[in-house]
Amino acid sequence: MKHIFKKYGDDAKTTLLLLHGTGGTEEDLLPLAAKIDPKANVLSVRGNVLENGMPRFFKRLAEGVFDEADLQLRTKELYDFIREAAANYDFDGENVVAIGYSNGANIAASLLFHYQNALRGAILHHPMVPKRDMELPDLNGKEIFISAGKNDPICPVSESEELQSLLTGAGANVQMCWLDHGHQLTMQEVESAAKWYKDHI
Ligand code: MLT
Repeated sequence: MKHIFKKYGDDAKTTLLLLHGTGGTEEDLLPLAAKIDPKANVLSVRGNVLENGMPRFFKRLAEGVFDEADLQLRTKELYDFIREAAANYDFDGENVVAIGYSNGANIAASLLFHYQNALRGAILHHPMVPKRDMELPDLNGKEIFISAGKNDPICPVSESEELQSLLTGAGANVQMCWLDHGHQLTMQEVESAAKWYKDHI
């Protein structure tokens, strides 16, 4: 997968996995990584799917309606890519924390739904429920931060609450950050995520 890898040094324990929103690239979230943990390695990936020229991490049938078969395939592709990158770049594959926005947060949530050891934790900015009616792996010990807009036209409050309850039900420790606006990524939630990261990771 097209990506950027930045090694902090031999002391870095954590690798931040950056996953952009629809129409973004692997450059977009680099400033967030610097704000969250300037001492972490960074693996920033570009989604392999193109929707009218816009990179995404999996196909969708309509806004908010995911192509489940493609989501499953792309989740595995990303999972395998992270494992390969850990071997090639020599970082700890058991200590990867995702930072995803929108479509990138959705594939990060899908990694958590499908693979017990994909992520140690995740910062999910404006995620949705990636898949319903499935059994989640044991997520005990996983630290997850979710920011959600109370007026998000793409992801209603009830869906953010559903995601919180699915992850908590699987054992994850989830912190919600509710915002008074919509789907856009704001400085306010990045600062809350940075504070959460210091306390939990
Ligand atoms: C998605 O398709 O992943 C969500 O609708 C968010 C988006 O990318 O707009």
